[in-house]
Amino acid sequence: MALKVGKFTVLNHPLIQHKLTIIRNKNTGTKVFREVANEIAELMVYEITRDLPLEDVVVNTPMGKTTQKTLSGKKLAVIPILRAGLGMVDGVLELIPAAKVGHIGMYRDEKTLKPHEYFVKMPTDIDQRNLFIVDPMLATGGSAIMAIDALKKRGASNMRLVVLVAAPEGVRAVQEAHPDVDIYAAALDEKLNEDGYIIPGLGDAGDRLFGTK
Ligand code: PRP
Ligand code: URA
Repeated sequence: MALKVGKFTVLNHPLIQHKLTIIRNKNTGTKVFREVANEIAELMVYEITRDLPLEDVVVNTPMGKTTQKTLSGKKLAVIPILRAGLGMVDGVLELIPAAKVGHIGMYRDEKTLKPHEYFVKMPTDIDQRNLFIVDPMLATGGSAIMAIDALKKRGASNMRLVVLVAAPEGVRAVQEAHPDVDIYAAALDEKLNEDGYIIPGLGDAGDRLFGTK
């Protein structure tokens, strides 16, 4: 189930909506937050991979030879934007265990809200892979835009941005900067507040995942 406008899609499957409500709740503790964030990421990836290409392959069952389908096309990689993106990686790998993982470290200056890159470590062949960039929050869009810039600079050309909660401001900013990138969210929220937090959102995703602050 999905609501799609251009290259922005809200994956509003009932299970995704239900689980997102659990992690929005301020009384949900770190353990459950972690588990459920990964479960949502897994459900989202299930939805997003519906269009993966298939090819014919001959397989011998115990009963004889048959031609069946297997995945074809480019290999995949998951790219978490640190820290909070780490909270979605295990969920993605549940469904795509052979995916490589590239890390991109970025933090948002609390005053200016501008992102700062502090770490990039990518698989050597990202230019030949389809990438799922994961981060729970798309707020101003600055972090996602900088992450996509960094990946394109390293030769990546096929990538999708997968977030739990998006603000309209962030969706617009990413679409303007990178109109080729598909964005998938579990929810499109109302707005940003004056501190750059998503309303109603779920608070600071990194702090809630790792128990900091
Ligand atoms: C959060 C979040 C995104 C970013 C979104 O990370 O995980 O990366 O903010 O905001 P933006 O769209 O306005 O750039 P944060 O900078 O808090 O770092 P953390 O994951 O280490 O907590
Ligand atoms: N980063 C977060 O973790 N939460 C927000 O609401 C906005 C940015």
